[in-house]
Amino acid sequence: MNMKYTITTPLYYVNDKPHLGSSYTTIACDAIARFERLNGNTVLFLTGVDEHGQKIERTAESKNLEPQLHCDEITEKYKYLWDKLNISYDRFVRTTSIEHTSLVHQFYSKVLKSDDVYMGRQSGWYCVGCEEYKDVEDKDKSPICSIHKKELEWRDEENLFFKLSKYQDQIEKLIHVDGFISPKSRKNEIINFVSKGLRDFSISRVNLKWGINVPGNKDHTFYVWFDALLGYVSGSLNDQCSPELTEKSLSNWPANIHVIGKDILRFHAVYWPAMLLSAGMKTPRSVFGHGFLTREGQKMGKSLGNVLDPIELLEYGGIDAMRWYLLRDIEFGEDGDFQMRRFVDIVNSDLCNTIGNLLNRTITMSKKWFKENIPIDNTLSSDSTLKVKSETKIIEYMESFKDSNFKSSANAIIDLANSANLYLNDRAPWKLIKDISNKNIVALDIYSVLESCRIIGILLNPIVPNLSNRILKQLNIDTSNINFKDSLQWGLLDPNNGLQDPTPVMDKIEFNEDPR
Ligand code: MSP
Repeated sequence: MNMKYTITTPLYYVNDKPHLGSSYTTIACDAIARFERLNGNTVLFLTGVDEHGQKIERTAESKNLEPQLHCDEITEKYKYLWDKLNISYDRFVRTTSIEHTSLVHQFYSKVLKSDDVYMGRQSGWYCVGCEEYKDVEDKDKSPICSIHKKELEWRDEENLFFKLSKYQDQIEKLIHVDGFISPKSRKNEIINFVSKGLRDFSISRVNLKWGINVPGNKDHTFYVWFDALLGYVSGSLNDQCSPELTEKSLSNWPANIHVIGKDILRFHAVYWPAMLLSAGMKTPRSVFGHGFLTREGQKMGKSLGNVLDPIELLEYGGIDAMRWYLLRDIEFGEDGDFQMRRFVDIVNSDLCNTIGNLLNRTITMSKKWFKENIPIDNTLSSDSTLKVKSETKIIEYMESFKDSNFKSSANAIIDLANSANLYLNDRAPWKLIKDISNKNIVALDIYSVLESCRIIGILLNPIVPNLSNRILKQLNIDTSNINFKDSLQWGLLDPNNGLQDPTPVMDKIEFNEDPR
């Protein structure tokens, strides 16, 4: 059944150019979006940038730039990278847009009507990197943020507060709903946090110009998180030009899934749903908190000089290599380590050898022995080994993808390709064909392997869309209108289609420890 499906990446801070971490989340979201489209769903895939707050204001200052100019510059870098990575987003949200400001004001007036805002005083240790107050015991020393390794700053100011505590029961109920928070380990973390009792949080700042003004409180701007989370709603509205919080305009809301890193799970699974409840709006259906990427065992950071620039990685290995490695080798949900040696080995082994060579040698044999074509299909009497294998692997792939377990879906594809390679080696059609009376048997074998390649090509689509297209093109398959339901049955490869000349679909990568 066709369903509306809204998926979001986090809205990335524009304090710096995109890094491998942001590329990772966005590639994962792109894979989910493509998977849902292939399942026949109408997808709204939303990404964008989070442009306000002190962190951005300071970065712009240090570059001697007007904040807006700085934001424009970095935003372009995000868009450029997403295009290079073939990210199929439908909307790109900018929190500095006029439309977004209007939406924030409308939302705020709803929260005010629910009597959920009051003026208070906030004092505590603040991390500008996290844009968050931190719980610290000892107030005399200046403590360090465990994420940014920078000194926290002491703040004592008048802020507007949101009555988060009022939503304790509703949030408690929500976070226990099956499938709301994934993976399970992260769910327990949030349950534990909420069980300690929710405290109201401040939603405005004074002395910060770079933010959205709070109507009725002229010295205040909205706290960057209050503004940024609403970017998900402004990006999903039907009418992007004059955004209104009406039911008609909200037909893509709630989001089916917010995919985020584990560090910002609390904002998404606790604060955000409470804000929505206050405004009388629906809460997101699910939140997935993935792990962090490290490099060769160490946290990536400028000070360590080990940041891997996604553009450099792309230039070195190519888009398919980068997407495949990140989704195939790293368990989504767990922390993962980027290792250059592994990157090269996995890509060469899976994509060049196991899949690329299989396609190449089978097309070559088929064209040579069957008049430049696919042999006549006679699947009814064909050996069913690969058919059965492919059906089992398709089920595994689908089940895993639904849980965002890309690694297991990718494994299912490789299993099928391995089976097809083994099948060829066992049957040795190059020996059988020497006796002309075996021609029909060989025809069936070659057909089965080519058909497996077609299925592999389709299953690869959400993970490595470019490679998938190259594979299907060699089999002369029109890639413009593919969907899982109509294309994954065994035996659909049409012998009348013919075959392209075999050319390698994936080039090998030479190992280079540091591609910079
Ligand atoms: N602006 C907020 C999100 C607001 S959403 C309404 C923000 N931005 S961020 O740019 O700092 O981080 C964006 C995402 O990148 C987060 O989900 C974070 O977990 C993720 N990552 C940052 N470094 C990462 C790695 N090294 N590895 C994987 N993901 C990482 O937070």
